[in-house]
Amino acid sequence: MALSTGTKKINTAVFISGTGSNLKSLIKFSNLKKSPISIKMIISNNPKSKGLAFGKIYKIRKKIFNFSNQAKTEKEILKLLKKKKINLICLAGFMRILSKNFIQNFNGQILNIHPSLLPKYKGLNTHDRAIKNKDRYSGCTVHFVTAKLDSGKIIIQKKVKINKKDTPRTLANKVLAEEHKLYPEAILKIINL
Ligand code: GRF
Repeated sequence: MALSTGTKKINTAVFISGTGSNLKSLIKFSNLKKSPISIKMIISNNPKSKGLAFGKIYKIRKKIFNFSNQAKTEKEILKLLKKKKINLICLAGFMRILSKNFIQNFNGQILNIHPSLLPKYKGLNTHDRAIKNKDRYSGCTVHFVTAKLDSGKIIIQKKVKINKKDTPRTLANKVLAEEHKLYPEAILKIINL
């Protein structure tokens, strides 16, 4: 389904598992008057996600789902998203792989942010791998989500220089700072497509 803003903002759900710094930047973006999205819901598979606190701070409904029976849980989530008329899902550090069935049955777009210059370093430990390979640059990517991990069409990327002194942690922090700007840019880009 193509996204169109019209005069109304696009109802958005953000899926998280951890710290939620990208969630925070998306909430700030959505609160701008000119923003095309409105974040209606935060979904997590992890009751300990620090990012859930942003639900309380910004008064956004949050819901935790247990993924031990993923097929059943995904059905419940789809039902909820439909009820809330959600048309956009932003995965932001969400550590579960959504099934093909979920992706096909969601009536809207699903985006993900990944901390590497895809197609390089799909999956985990991207910063560690980039440093070990002595890459000169790393970065981040926002892409459409398909059933194949970190492989959907790329929307936008940002390069980040790797210095000799960088550790996976310092590189992660530099990349995260760029991620916070890149996700809103990606949303603006797909809306203007
Ligand atoms: C980010 O680096 C994101 O690219 C990756 O997981 C991390 C999540 O960080 N998928 P946060 O929870 O948004 O702070």
